[in-house]
Amino acid sequence: MFTDLTTFTEMNISVLLLITLLITTCFTDVNMSFDFNGKIALVTGGARGNGYAIISELLQKGIRGVTMIDVDAERGQQAAHELNNMYGYSKVIFIPVNVSQATQFEYAFRVSMWHWNGLDIVINNAGVTGENNWISMVNVNIIGTVQGTYLGLQYMSKSGRGGVIINLSSTLGVDPDYYQPVYDASKSFILSLGRSISDEL
Ligand SMILES: NC(=O)c1ccc[n+]([C@@H]2O[C@H](COP(=O)([O-])OP(=O)(O)OC[C@H]3O[C@@H](n4cnc5c(N)ncnc54)[C@H](O)[C@@H]3O)[C@@H](O)[C@H]2O)c1
Repeated sequence: MFTDLTTFTEMNISVLLLITLLITTCFTDVNMSFDFNGKIALVTGGARGNGYAIISELLQKGIRGVTMIDVDAERGQQAAHELNNMYGYSKVIFIPVNVSQATQFEYAFRVSMWHWNGLDIVINNAGVTGENNWISMVNVNIIGTVQGTYLGLQYMSKSGRGGVIINLSSTLGVDPDYYQPVYDASKSFILSLGRSISDEL
């Protein structure tokens, strides 16, 4: 995986899959071959948890700006405020969006492009668990990730300078735990999606 990372800078558009537990290590390695200076990222589900940690890491690595997307408007605004206080005014903008809603999600890409005048990294991190509400989980984990992937391809191709798409899977996508089958399958889907799309590019 890390060897592949070095080739991403060379490729026009690439889809990279990260198993979430390896994120910190991956970003450490990315830093060796990927210059974040001047780059813009869009991160879904960034108001807390892994998404918030990813944004913090990108800011520490010197990224120019981040668009944080989250369905939780209150927590998202607070999180963006905290990060701007820590890393510098106007480094993060927050857009309240449900990633399973195509129109909202597209709107967020448009606003982000308009605001930063560029896009280099899309991280489809938003994901939920909850087998009792599996339709909603499929909508977020699968539909939301596919939408984010295609929007990333579309918007980063438009800019002509390429970019990187990272979709959050899980070790459970490879090694299911047998008590949350739909969640595990949704994470397998993400692995398969990435392999298939990156082969096409
Ligand atoms: N936490 C883990 O142990 C773990 C392990 C493996 C993979 N992951 C994956 O990492 C990702 C993040 O997980 P986390 O543990 O940080 O979760 P979390 O619940 O802490 O945070 C998820 C964030 O996504 C947001 N969100 C949920 N639905 C959304 C939607 N429809 N549109 C936009 N935003 C939405 C939530 O409001 C929240 O801020 C998920 O894809 C998850 O499957 C997590």
